Amino acid sequence: MATPVRRPSSRKGSMSDVPKDLLQQIERLEGLFTVPQEKLKAITDHFVSELAKGLSKEGGSIPMIPTWCMGIPNGHETGTFLAVDMGGTNLRVCEIVLPDAKGEFDIIQSKYRMPEELRTGTAEELWGYTADCIKQFIEYHHEDEKLDQLPMGFTFSYPVSQEYIDHGVLQRWTKGFDIDGVEGVDVVPPFEAALKERGVPIKLTALVNDTTGTLMASAYTDDTVKIGCIFGTGCNAAYVEDCGSIPKLEHMNLDPKLPMAINCEWGAFDNEHIILPRTPYDIIVDKESPRPGQQSFEKMVAGLYLGELFRLVLLDLHTNPEVQIFKGQNVDELQKMYSLDASFLSAIEVDPYENLQETADLFSSKLGIHVNKPELELCRRLAELIGTRAARLTSCGVAAICKKKGYTSCKAGADGSVFNRYPHFKARGAQALREIFDWPSDLKDPIEVIPSEDGSGVGAALIAALTLRRLKEGNHAGIRDPQAILASAKS
Ligand code: BGC
Repeated sequence: MATPVRRPSSRKGSMSDVPKDLLQQIERLEGLFTVPQEKLKAITDHFVSELAKGLSKEGGSIPMIPTWCMGIPNGHETGTFLAVDMGGTNLRVCEIVLPDAKGEFDIIQSKYRMPEELRTGTAEELWGYTADCIKQFIEYHHEDEKLDQLPMGFTFSYPVSQEYIDHGVLQRWTKGFDIDGVEGVDVVPPFEAALKERGVPIKLTALVNDTTGTLMASAYTDDTVKIGCIFGTGCNAAYVEDCGSIPKLEHMNLDPKLPMAINCEWGAFDNEHIILPRTPYDIIVDKESPRPGQQSFEKMVAGLYLGELFRLVLLDLHTNPEVQIFKGQNVDELQKMYSLDASFLSAIEVDPYENLQETADLFSSKLGIHVNKPELELCRRLAELIGTRAARLTSCGVAAICKKKGYTSCKAGADGSVFNRYPHFKARGAQALREIFDWPSDLKDPIEVIPSEDGSGVGAALIAALTLRRLKEGNHAGIRDPQAILASAKS
């Protein structure tokens, strides 16, 4: 065994008995996963130009989708709406009442588990299951009532091209979904058909991305919020552009001053691999995913991939004859793709014990591996590196939107499991913003990422309400079925 070497670390004295060969590995990983200040700035600048490119007629990697959500809530939206969120693990159905009181709302909701098989099943099963859950919700909450129609905001958080707000052609599945016959197709008609078949009295008013919902829900209560972000299983952001700054909509002759929420779909940033510091592990994650070459940025930062990156590094260090961590142990579980998720890393990062006892217990219960003390130190450092890189890189996206829009002070409302539950994610992201903008140390963060209101519930209902409002005001732009939508609101 090589001689232990003392080195500085985030945990006091923690590396003092890590042997030299393992320390060298830790240093190699630090080199791979650390994104220094200058690199953050370079990524941000490239991000700014890619955002603009996505809005251009020629287009770019980042889809920059005009959502036809053409307004920002002023807190006075009213009405009763259904909001449905088809997330990865759950389907959430809510009924939301926006009362007269400014910025308030009442909500009732039910959650339904999305069976794992649906992710790779058929389109018919997907829409059938979604419509069944909505039917169940209506029957439960409106038993014996005669409902005419309810307007619905449907949160479908995948890249969809929207020619209208009540329309959306799925560009490609992300986040591990892979259902045949949905890509390249407008998702609204089959969904509405499934509702109709079941006699469910719902009219889809707005197809909403979770980021746009988050932006609107946060802006409803705080008008300094200019960006909506999701840091969860996937990662993305939305913000409001003026129609005059969207060259790809020029042919529509919209009033250049009208606002238009843009669903950036920034997960696709740098698909051409120009600027992001990809490691060999990022390359494997991409290659082994259902859509290689897509969502390059997302695959480095989103919750779905953090555990997988961690697993790939450990497996590499196990098979590398010069390192051989977990030597002589059965690593069958570790060999299973996606056997670890981001919560595994979170648990390691919050292990309070100097001897990393909780981490040791976790490895033994989840993977059946006995991990020695130096290996535990490596695991802890690796989790920190992967989690920190994710937080710092996502800040480049937030900074890029601010730079593009010239915002020197604003808030971004954020939601998602990584933002809400991954330890230190917020602080690490905030630190990266400081480095990107070189704020003096005595200046309180002018741009802040804050927890958002409920985007896929309240946000989706607000977008449905905003759509109805502008229809009533005579702005029909980007609405396919104005008459039916208006009729649904009358009842
Ligand atoms: C999707 C986005 C979504 C994000 C967060 C990505 O995979 O493409 O539409 O906003 O995940 O849920």
